[in-house]
Amino acid sequence: MARWTVRIDPAWSLDAWRDAARLALRRGVAPEQLDWLQDQEHSLLDAPPLPASEDAGDAPTYVSKAFVELAATCLCHRDPQRLPLLYRLLWRIARGERGLLSNPTDPDVLRAMALAQAVRRDTHKMKAFVRFREVPGEQDAFIAWFEPEHHIVDRVAPFFARRFTGMRWAILTPSRSVRWDGQALSFGAGGRQADAPLEDAREALWRTYYANIFNPARLNTRMMQQEMPARYWKHLPEATLLPALVRDAGDRVQDMHDRAAQAPQRRIPERSIALRGPATATGDDLDALRTAAAACRRCPLWEPATQTVFGEGPRDAKVMLVGEQPGDAEDLSGHPFVGPAGQLLDQALGELGIDRSTLYLTNAVKHFRFERRGKRRIHSTPQVTHITACRPWLLREIEHVRPAVIVCLGASAATAVFGAGFKLMDNHGRWHALEDGTRAFATVHPAWVLRQPAGTARDAAYRLLLDDLARLPRAGDSADPAT
Ligand code: URA
Repeated sequence: MARWTVRIDPAWSLDAWRDAARLALRRGVAPEQLDWLQDQEHSLLDAPPLPASEDAGDAPTYVSKAFVELAATCLCHRDPQRLPLLYRLLWRIARGERGLLSNPTDPDVLRAMALAQAVRRDTHKMKAFVRFREVPGEQDAFIAWFEPEHHIVDRVAPFFARRFTGMRWAILTPSRSVRWDGQALSFGAGGRQADAPLEDAREALWRTYYANIFNPARLNTRMMQQEMPARYWKHLPEATLLPALVRDAGDRVQDMHDRAAQAPQRRIPERSIALRGPATATGDDLDALRTAAAACRRCPLWEPATQTVFGEGPRDAKVMLVGEQPGDAEDLSGHPFVGPAGQLLDQALGELGIDRSTLYLTNAVKHFRFERRGKRRIHSTPQVTHITACRPWLLREIEHVRPAVIVCLGASAATAVFGAGFKLMDNHGRWHALEDGTRAFATVHPAWVLRQPAGTARDAAYRLLLDDLARLPRAGDSADPAT
């Protein structure tokens, strides 16, 4: 029996595989006569290369789109047997088994499906777990190190180009690298982990946040390992915390169980002031307004909350940031934006060179709305009725501070400022003029950024927040910021 070799280079190329398979098929070479080589591999059988010939044998075989897709996906797998497997499938289809792919009990079909599934899973994990780190000293340039199991860099790269169009980035893997210069993708040889930056400042913040939201009572290590297999941990900053968090989870749950239920610290405000809200808040300075708001009962949220969290900042601030409502940390401390979302906001402002102490920070709703789960207080989004009830306080704050620019963080703040029906994701970062001429725009809430899955989704969300906040005037900018 004559034997031939065919070579696929690069090993995952559908075009290269298709050319070789078409040639072999036209020449009537059976699967058992072919030795498939990838990249620069040598033939152990010393078989000669299959000669290209112009004298076509059989007419070309047309295969379904499903087969082409299956082949393209399987080719990204590292198993060298995928090459003869795919040719065997093609050969059988060409010999009359037209419905082969719909036979789920056929061993060749089963194997090909399993290989494709493994590639899809690896692709999904790369999209989720790639972490870009800023290149020190360069603006908007990021490098990520990642170790995929299969040849998926070319397959995944367009996803990152769409997600991170506005920045320059590179992803290095041991066998291939890809770069995006803002215009086009270019591929090259593999890199080394040492060529990627070690850690950037943002990662410490992710870790703080992760440690804060980690709930030991909900730990399910089997699910965790399934969703986030240990081999990807090295790419995730929070993973360094996991062994200790998992190890201590049992003790912490026991501790939560043993601890007596903790009543929220609640200061019941004086009933005599402003029972009906701002209608009685006639004082003409912010302090009087703050005192009146401390006694607000315009909606039921005051009752379970610890206290009213009023706005803070210079009373002549040029920029007012409006959040949704205080969170757990804000409710207990009485100050806006001091919890994890506030820390992320600080991080973003810091990166943009904006001094937080020059801003007036407030919320659309001034009491913490939450649900109790055991001993924990879980944030619950305020309803339009709560936003409407609290709106007069916000309007009075705006009246007093007279900011040149208002930024709404998240949909609740946008509802309070622009009215119900404002579509945040369609309009974020876009300037609007309010009735009194104040310029305003909305962007995503930092807490929403923190809720995104770690990795590319969260990086993209943070980027969106940064890009929108970059519209804010900095010290020394000209008078009209809204251009
Ligand atoms: N989220 C908000 O919207 N406001 C805060 O003050 C804190 C978290």
